[in-house]
Amino acid sequence: MTQASNHSSTASVTHIVGARPNFPKAAPVIAALANRSVTQRLVHTGQHYDDALSEAFFRELDLPEPDVNLGVGSGSHATQTADLMRALETEFIASNPRAVVVYGDINSTLAAALVAVKMEMPVAHVEAGLRSFDRTMPEEINRVVTDQLAGLLLTTSPEGLTNLTNEGVDPTRVAFVGNPMIDTLLKNRPRFSGSEIIARLGIDGAYAVATLHRPANVDSHAAAAQIVDALRACSDRLPLIVPLHPRGRQALAAAGLDDMSRVFVIDPLSYLNFMGLVQGAAAVITDSGGVQEETTVLGIPCLTLRPNTERPITITNGTNRLVDYENLATELDRALARSQDGSQIQVPPLWDGHAGERIADALVDWMTTA
Ligand code: UD1
Repeated sequence: MTQASNHSSTASVTHIVGARPNFPKAAPVIAALANRSVTQRLVHTGQHYDDALSEAFFRELDLPEPDVNLGVGSGSHATQTADLMRALETEFIASNPRAVVVYGDINSTLAAALVAVKMEMPVAHVEAGLRSFDRTMPEEINRVVTDQLAGLLLTTSPEGLTNLTNEGVDPTRVAFVGNPMIDTLLKNRPRFSGSEIIARLGIDGAYAVATLHRPANVDSHAAAAQIVDALRACSDRLPLIVPLHPRGRQALAAAGLDDMSRVFVIDPLSYLNFMGLVQGAAAVITDSGGVQEETTVLGIPCLTLRPNTERPITITNGTNRLVDYENLATELDRALARSQDGSQIQVPPLWDGHAGERIADALVDWMTTA
C-alpha cells in the first residue's frame, strides 16, 4: 500500500494513473484521502515511462511511489488498450479493491473502467462530463465510454452535468467537485521555476511557449508542415519555447521545426519548470487540454490549435481562444495587444484549491452505498 495509506482502514481504493496529465489530478485526491479512513493503492499502468513524462512528476508533486507499475508502454490504440486491460485484470484479481478511481481521458482510464465494472467493482471518474463532441479524438471516445461505465462521476465544470444528462446518465451519479489539477497548480505556484531555462536559452524579454502533441496536429507530415509554417510566422513576433512531447518530434523535425532561429525546441519539462515557463510567458500556443485550464487560472493568453475544445469554460471565463494554422499569427498579435490586467477573467467555479477534499468526501460517501 502507498505511503498515503491509513492503517485504520474502512475501505480500500485503487487509483489508476498512467500518463503525464493524470499525475497533477491524482495528487490532491490521494493527499485528501490520506486524512480519511481509507486504505489506498496507487497503480501506474506505465503508459508513459520516460522520466520527464512520469517519475519527474512523482518527485515534484509529492505523489507516493506507485505500489506497482504495470509497465504496459506504447502501442496502437487496440494493442495498448488490450495490454492495459490484461495487466489491470491481473492486478484487480490480486488486490481486490473496494473501488477504483480513474482520471481524465487517456487509454489507461478507459481500460481500467472497463475491466473494473466487468469485475463488479465500483468505478469513480475524476474529470467526468467533458465533451469536445469530436469523435475523431481518441480522448473523446475514452470520455464517453468511461462516463457510461462509472458509478460516480466527478465533474470539474458545471456543463459536465448537462453533457452527462444529455447522454442519459442519472444525475444522482454526478457530483460537481471542481478541478483537482488547479489544486496542484495553486499549491505549487510558489515553487514554479522557469528562469533558469530562459537564461540557458539566452532569451531576454517576452517569449511564448508552444506545446503540441495531438495526433491531428503532429502525426501527419502535411499537418506538421502547416504547424511549422504557422510557428515560423509567430516567431517573427517573439521567441518561442517549444518543450516537445516525443510523439511529435519526428514529423515536426522533418518539417523544419528545429531549423528556425527564434524557435527553441527543448525536451519535455517537469511540472514545476513547465509551469514556471507558462507563468512568465506573454502567450501560450497549445493543443493540450490541461494547459487551457492552467492558463485560464494564471491569466496567460492561450491560443488552442484545435477546431473544438472539451473545456469551453476556458473560453467563456478564461483566456482561451480556438485558432487554426492560418490565423494563428494574427490571433497571437491580438492576444499580445489585449489588455493583460486579468479583469476579463472569471476563474471557473470551484477551481479554488479544494477540489481534492471535495472529491475525497464524495468518494467516502459513495463507498458506503456503492
Ligand atoms: C497520451 C494521451 C493523451 C494525453 C497525452 C499527454 C491517450 C489516447 N492519449 O497521449 O490524451 O494528452 O498522453 O502526454 O491515452 N512515448 C515516449 N515516451 C513515453 C510515452 C510515449 O516516447 O514515456 C511516445 C511513443 O512513441 C508513443 C507515443 O509517444 O507511441 C504516444 O504515446 P501514448 O501514450 O500512446 O499517447 P500520447 O500521445 O502520449
